[in-house]
Amino acid sequence: MRTIIEPFRIKTVEPIRLTSEAERRALLEAAHFNVFNLHAEHVLIDLLTDSGTSAMSQEQWAQVMRGDESYAGSRSYYEMESQVREVFGYQHILPTHQGRSAERILFSVVLKPGMTVPNNNHFDTTRANVEYQGAEALDLVIEEGRQPALEHPFKGNMDVAKLDAVLRERGRDKVPLVMLTITNNSGGGQPVSMANIRAVSSVCREHGIPLFFDACRFAENAYFIKLREPGYQDRTPLSIAQEMFSYGDGCTMSAKKDALVNIGGFLSMNNDAWFQQCSNLLILTEGFPTYGGLAGRDLGAIAQGLREVLDEDYLRYRLASTTYLGQHLDKLGVPCVKPAGGHAIFVDARAWLDHLEPGQLPAQALVCALYEAGGIRAVEIGTVMFGRTDPQTGREIPAPLDLVRLAIPRRVYTQSHIDYVVEVFEELSRRKRDIRGLAFSYQPPFLRHFTARFQRL
Ligand SMILES: Cc1ncc(COP(=O)(O)O)c(C=O)c1O
Repeated sequence: MRTIIEPFRIKTVEPIRLTSEAERRALLEAAHFNVFNLHAEHVLIDLLTDSGTSAMSQEQWAQVMRGDESYAGSRSYYEMESQVREVFGYQHILPTHQGRSAERILFSVVLKPGMTVPNNNHFDTTRANVEYQGAEALDLVIEEGRQPALEHPFKGNMDVAKLDAVLRERGRDKVPLVMLTITNNSGGGQPVSMANIRAVSSVCREHGIPLFFDACRFAENAYFIKLREPGYQDRTPLSIAQEMFSYGDGCTMSAKKDALVNIGGFLSMNNDAWFQQCSNLLILTEGFPTYGGLAGRDLGAIAQGLREVLDEDYLRYRLASTTYLGQHLDKLGVPCVKPAGGHAIFVDARAWLDHLEPGQLPAQALVCALYEAGGIRAVEIGTVMFGRTDPQTGREIPAPLDLVRLAIPRRVYTQSHIDYVVEVFEELSRRKRDIRGLAFSYQPPFLRHFTARFQRL
């Protein structure tokens, strides 16, 4: 059969409210042109993020009912621990309330001012947590990964020669760990190949430096390896995931992505001394090490989600549905990061809205236009997120790319929802010259995209 169908039936429905374009224009102005300020009930198709927005399965809801809420040593914790160990294979596992708390705890323990963390591309919270410790977040993605229009099967790969040079120059004292983000969210949701993971791991081992994964979308990465890397076609996603993690020494994980839950995360590692210090910090702000800021029911849902996410029927549908959106936008002539990522399509807004200068925030302008025209909420991954304002001139120093991310929540929208998104782009293609640029009217000192305000130019 040609059509890869959603491998589930819908048993509970959540109504979405239709709004008019005039209504949305007023709501957008009241939100200061920052879609993070909108009420979700005013959004028709919410592609803001794939994080924490998954639909849970009947078995996960059953886990919610079965959750053991004991303060210490809950059964749900041990179920989660055993599932995490089966997939990831590391010695120690600390639950956290989400990915960034795992990052904060890890970096508080291992980083000192002046140190460096190499990564293919740091996600924004990872970068912010590294920089908060006074350290440098260094992006070493391969050159192909920086070119949106270029086709390459593994654009999330790290430049191994550059990594080797950095480690030679700075050494173990200045680089306490190396990270690999799978898939590479900020670089377009692009996968990292097994060959690259192996090569990065071998350079790290040569220098005696541990390798940690930012593992949020590990199952999607594993399935890309199965589809694209010779030698993996007959392997199960679980065995591919196990092999990926065998080359590392630990991971941070936002369970809000590939554990198919609405909240949760964990930190896992082999290093006993680091684990001890991380546990102590966890107790200070998250909770006792067998719940780490989560309820027992959340831990049970994570355990079940980690089983379901590695199901081949699910992964085949997941990657096919993202590709479907990418192919249709491509037919409309909307430039997107190629090839389609695992969890999202990234539109190259700077290339598409070429009547706007990068300083006029083209990606944020497109985010606003998508909401106004069709009630679609997307997110800017460009100058608003990664650029900065020059304090001397007040001008924007643009990020390398101005992308709009259309992130697809897991198991939430059907093909007709996605067809509607394509129609909104079709409509915008007809009037894209009318899309106006934006300027900041307020910006906070860090992670400015969440709370910044804008005005139309
Ligand atoms: C690659 C990556 N790392 C880390 C995080 C942070 O996870 P959380 O939102 O659970 O704190 C995210 C969230 O989107 C992410 O995509």
